[in-house]
Amino acid sequence: MVESALQFSHTLLAEVLTDDDHVVDATMGNGNDTVFLANAVQPHGKVYAFDVQDQALDKTKQRLVEQGLVEQTKLILDGHENLKSYLTENEPIKAGIFNLGYLPKSDKNLITMPATTKQALETLLSHLVSKGRVLLVSYYGHTGGKEELNMLNHYCQSLPQEEYNVLKYQFINQKNEPPILFCIEKK
Ligand SMILES: C[S@@+](CC[C@H](N)C(=O)[O-])C[C@H]1O[C@@H](n2cnc3c(N)ncnc32)[C@H](O)[C@@H]1O
Repeated sequence: MVESALQFSHTLLAEVLTDDDHVVDATMGNGNDTVFLANAVQPHGKVYAFDVQDQALDKTKQRLVEQGLVEQTKLILDGHENLKSYLTENEPIKAGIFNLGYLPKSDKNLITMPATTKQALETLLSHLVSKGRVLLVSYYGHTGGKEELNMLNHYCQSLPQEEYNVLKYQFINQKNEPPILFCIEKK
């Protein structure tokens, strides 16, 4: 079966990650991506995971403890737009993932926003190593979602071909606005 946007995001990450990479989960939520990344870069790598909600950190920490993955993970209660303050100058980052929108079964008004998503993405790209990848899963069915998708379409299309490969992965015959995946790979 063709992989969903979420499944394919992990496949594209798994292809490039090794056991000492530094990576970023820009939207921790329930910790699915954080756990995946922590597994992929153990034992020598490091995951920086961001969220603005306490409940995301609590849930994610619990899952990491259960799986013995706390060591290589830094959980950060802050907006991903402040990523720059948490990385050292010129710190090489191999990959990052954004799962945009709101946390399921939580406050639907607390959503990721175009300006702050763009700011985080710019910082991430400035640290991305050659062959590194950034994955963005865009949900756009909620209020404010289409504005963020528009920003991503524009931003991704304008990245120079000499420096980046950019992929857009989308099911075009599905109902209910399924998520769209973007992959930015540094050449
Ligand atoms: C779709 S959920 C993420 C799902 C998550 N990746 C998972 O595996 O469960 C989006 C998350 O982004 C968080 N968020 C919203 N604005 C943010 C920001 N500026 N910085 C970091 N996280 C943010 C929300 O609190 C929410 O938990």
